[in-house]
Amino acid sequence: MSFQSTEVIKEGSLKKNLVVDEYKFTNFVNLSDDEIEMIRKWRNSDNVRKWMYNDHIIYEEEHKKIINSLKGSEDKIYWLVKKGDLAIGVLYFINISWKHKRAYFGIYANPGKKIPGAGKTLNSIAIKIAFDILNLHSLKLEVIENNKVAINLYKK
Ligand SMILES: CC(C)(COP(=O)(O)OP(=O)(O)OC[C@H]1O[C@@H](n2cnc3c(N)ncnc32)[C@H](O)[C@@H]1OP(=O)(O)O)[C@@H](O)C(=O)NCCC(=O)NCCS
Repeated sequence: MSFQSTEVIKEGSLKKNLVVDEYKFTNFVNLSDDEIEMIRKWRNSDNVRKWMYNDHIIYEEEHKKIINSLKGSEDKIYWLVKKGDLAIGVLYFINISWKHKRAYFGIYANPGKKIPGAGKTLNSIAIKIAFDILNLHSLKLEVIENNKVAINLYKK
C-alpha cells in the first residue's frame, strides 16, 4: 500500500510505504530478506559506518532486531529509496515529536554504486516529506564535524 505525495502521514500510518514523485520508499518494516541484507551491507560499509554515531559492524542478528524494533516504534521511520529498480539510498527520521512537530533526519547513499546527485536527491526529498507529508514544523540534523561531504551538501 502506498501514499501519494499529497497525503499527510499520521502517527498510526507510519508503517506504510510511500511514493513521492518517481521515488518509491519502502519502510524498513516491509523490506524483503534480500533488501534487509543489502541495507546491512550498506550500513557496514566503511564510508557509511564511519559517519554514524554507532560505528561498530552490525551482524545479522542485531540488524534484524533493530528492524523488528521499528515495528513498535512511533518516533522513527526508515525508508529504502528507489527510483525504478535503482536503489538510491536510505532516508530516515528519528526523534520524531508528533506533538511538537519536529524531527531529526539522516541519509546515506548506496555505497556500492555511485549515483551522481544521490545525496542531493535524498536531501530534497527529506525536506519535501518532512513538511508536506509528515506535516512537521521543523527539521533538524546532526553531522560529525569532519564529514565534509555531508556538511557541504547540507549547507546547500
Ligand atoms: C553524504 C552523502 C549522502 C552525499 O551523497 P552524494 O551522492 O555523494 O552527494 P551528491 O553527489 O548529491 O553531491 C551533493 C553535494 O555534496 C558535496 N560533495 C559531494 N561529494 C563531495 C566530495 N567528494 N567532497 C566534498 N564535497 C562533496 C557537494 O557539495 C555536492 O554538491 P555539488 O555536486 O553541487 O558540488 C554520501 O556521501 C553518503 O552517503 N555519505 C555517507 C553517509 C553520511 O555521511 N551521511 C550523512 C550523515 S549526517
